[in-house]
Amino acid sequence: MKFENFWYVVALSKQLKSNTVLQRTVLDEWLVIFRGDDGKPVALRDRCIHRNSRLSQGNVCQGKIQCPYHGWVYDKTGKVIAVPCEGENFQVTEARRALRYDTREQDGYIYVRLAQNPTEEFEPFPMPFYQQPGWETVRVINRFCNNVTNCVENFIDIPHTASVHPGVFRTPRQQQLEMTVERRSGCVIAQYRNETNNLGWFTRFLNNTGYKIRHTDSFHMPNITSVEYDMKPHRRLFITSQSVPEAEDSTLVYTDVTFNYGVWNKFAKLFVHWTAQYIIHQDVKALGIQWEAINKYGRQFSNTPADTIHVFVESIRNKIAAGEDPRTLPDKSVDVKFWV
Ligand code: FES
Ligand SMILES: [Fe+2]
Repeated sequence: MKFENFWYVVALSKQLKSNTVLQRTVLDEWLVIFRGDDGKPVALRDRCIHRNSRLSQGNVCQGKIQCPYHGWVYDKTGKVIAVPCEGENFQVTEARRALRYDTREQDGYIYVRLAQNPTEEFEPFPMPFYQQPGWETVRVINRFCNNVTNCVENFIDIPHTASVHPGVFRTPRQQQLEMTVERRSGCVIAQYRNETNNLGWFTRFLNNTGYKIRHTDSFHMPNITSVEYDMKPHRRLFITSQSVPEAEDSTLVYTDVTFNYGVWNKFAKLFVHWTAQYIIHQDVKALGIQWEAINKYGRQFSNTPADTIHVFVESIRNKIAAGEDPRTLPDKSVDVKFWV
């Protein structure tokens, strides 16, 4: 198994209009993204096969992209269909084509898969309750100067919330929490107990009656995290993040905050957007600082039991990095106590 076998978000559907050209990087591969004449997304290697200009600097017209240097034109399959300097001698040949990647469009996202011959068919992660009646979604995009592993670990890490997001998310209280962390078939699932009212400025709105909160965090190989809060009827919240590897020190994160707050849904949207961005900016800063030290001194960690979730995530991502299938790792379940 390889990271290239999976689908990665490269754009929001609404970012890619019919004549838009987008430049993206996934797993160090340069991509140009546009829509073909059938409206479907196209992803080609961002390199003209003629003399290596970048197609992403060219224009799209009727679903075909023209190189900005000598004007070669490529169709949605990556085939060269016009070479201006060859005039009437021009002939289409199979040999002249740009590298093309498979694309998908689902839940308002455009995905690319880099593997040309994937050993297994995976599906893009289904975004929970996206555009379903009674649910609203706020979608934000942020770039982190760190790798995917450290990003996904941050998104399902409770101990940092009191120190990085004091007041907004949680305040340091030394309240004991219990979690059960499980690793099974490429996923890590953490279920929390004893969570009642330490949710910062959300508390009064989300959980004014002290209802027992159901809180589950999960990681789904290779790059998805989900945070789910179930606080009472009409107070459910999902934060689903897709961490897209651009390079080892750069991760583009697409975050959906999807909620069902009953009659407050529309009203809450602005507030949720502002708060999500406020919290994520704090994490961008924290992860940038972490990367500086990892970059200089490498990754040697001193884990506590609360880091079990990260150890499991790393075991899964390390397996894929080694070209192996993390679903062959033995299932594990650990009960952990920690204080926040
Ligand atoms: S480099 Fe693209 S047309 Fe010449
Ligand atoms: Fe955070």
